Amino acid sequence: MKLFENLILPNGSIIPNRIGKAAMEENLADSNHLPADELFKLYDSWAKGGAGLIITGNVMIDRRAMTGPAGVVLEDDKYLDSFKKWAEIIKSNGAQAWMQINHPGRQMPVNMGQPTIAPSAISIQLGAASKAFGVPREMTIEEIEEVIERFVNTATLAEKAGFTGVEIHAAHGYLISQFLSPLTNKRTDQWGGSAENRSRFLFEVVERVRSKVSKSFAVAVKLNSADFQRGGFSPEDAKEVVKKLNDLEVDLVEVSGGSYEAPAMMGKARDERSLAREAYFLEFAKEIAAVAKMPIMVTGGVRRKEVAENVVSSGVDVVGIATALAINPSIPNDWKLGNSKDNTPSLRPITWSNKALASMANMAMVKYQFNRMIKGKKTVPNISPLKAFIIDRMNAYRNTKLYKKWLVQKN
Ligand SMILES: Cc1cc2nc3c(=O)[nH]c(=O)nc-3n(C[C@H](O)[C@H](O)[C@H](O)COP(=O)(O)O)c2cc1C
Repeated sequence: MKLFENLILPNGSIIPNRIGKAAMEENLADSNHLPADELFKLYDSWAKGGAGLIITGNVMIDRRAMTGPAGVVLEDDKYLDSFKKWAEIIKSNGAQAWMQINHPGRQMPVNMGQPTIAPSAISIQLGAASKAFGVPREMTIEEIEEVIERFVNTATLAEKAGFTGVEIHAAHGYLISQFLSPLTNKRTDQWGGSAENRSRFLFEVVERVRSKVSKSFAVAVKLNSADFQRGGFSPEDAKEVVKKLNDLEVDLVEVSGGSYEAPAMMGKARDERSLAREAYFLEFAKEIAAVAKMPIMVTGGVRRKEVAENVVSSGVDVVGIATALAINPSIPNDWKLGNSKDNTPSLRPITWSNKALASMANMAMVKYQFNRMIKGKKTVPNISPLKAFIIDRMNAYRNTKLYKKWLVQKN
């Protein structure tokens, strides 16, 4: 399979090439937590850059449960015009526009000031940084039902706004991933215990979303290949989940891995089966592709054309790219046209020993590039991690204050 060939999804729609812009939380929503000018400019660059599939950063299904400040929230149709404009821009060059939808569960910063809910009352263990997250309360059965319906609500609103699909975020230690993992789900009711019970929440979300959106609307899932923690969600668990998803009309599964506690998605996967630094989940993705009926996308560490070609010629259908597209949004076009400039975009390596802080600094360096792109300036992949980190923390501080004010007004 070639990078610039079409992919026909199970729902019959077409992704015009095999390069997917993976979800990156932008923290760039306006003061009403809506997509606005900054996000429009950013996504215009990606649309023009030629990726066949563009997945938004995670959009929150509940304004009280945020992965971070200045996140986009989609709960009702009051401001759907902003979302319509966003979808239009993403689709303007022929790409599929998928909205990633998410609930953080216990991975919500405590300074957002909201009660934290999770499958079980188990706190994040990040050494001194653990204090940055609240102690979660175990969700009631009613809350579980409510959150499932919120995923459905946001998915149907995304379709109304003109998005061509949603990606349900079941990876990276957020709420659905917390249900899936035996380390974070100690429930003794039908939502916990056996692998079947732990995956019930994901299956309910997928089934109910599928039943409420059009046949031609894509429903995708981002799934961990593993938690990369002893006793956690394993590669075997991931394969079993995908086998079950085969029966639920899922259009694509994106393979990733890790959580805040073990940030493997940022390239620190330490497993003998992970490739050293590039396409580091490829081996897992190939195994998953072998049992999957739907197309598979793998994301993590891809920044060279040869690696991307290797991914799509190895039985994996779509290559997901995040960081490199934040440095050069035109990678797909450059690769297609054989342009040599900037075709291996990489950030300055981070040598910090604290994995959690290094992962935050890495995200901050990427978000620094977003702001350059918005201003129409050249990106600066060599930005100092410390400088980017400090800027990001200052933005987070300001945006958290604005969020709290907004919430009071909303309520
Ligand atoms: C700034 C930033 C924000 C991210 N936000 C999200 C997100 O909202 N949802 C998600 O599934 N992954 C998110 N990720 C992870 C990426 O989708 C991707 O899995 C990871 O960066 C590895 O791919 P890469 O090596 O191409 O960057 C984020 C990554 C970065 C750098």
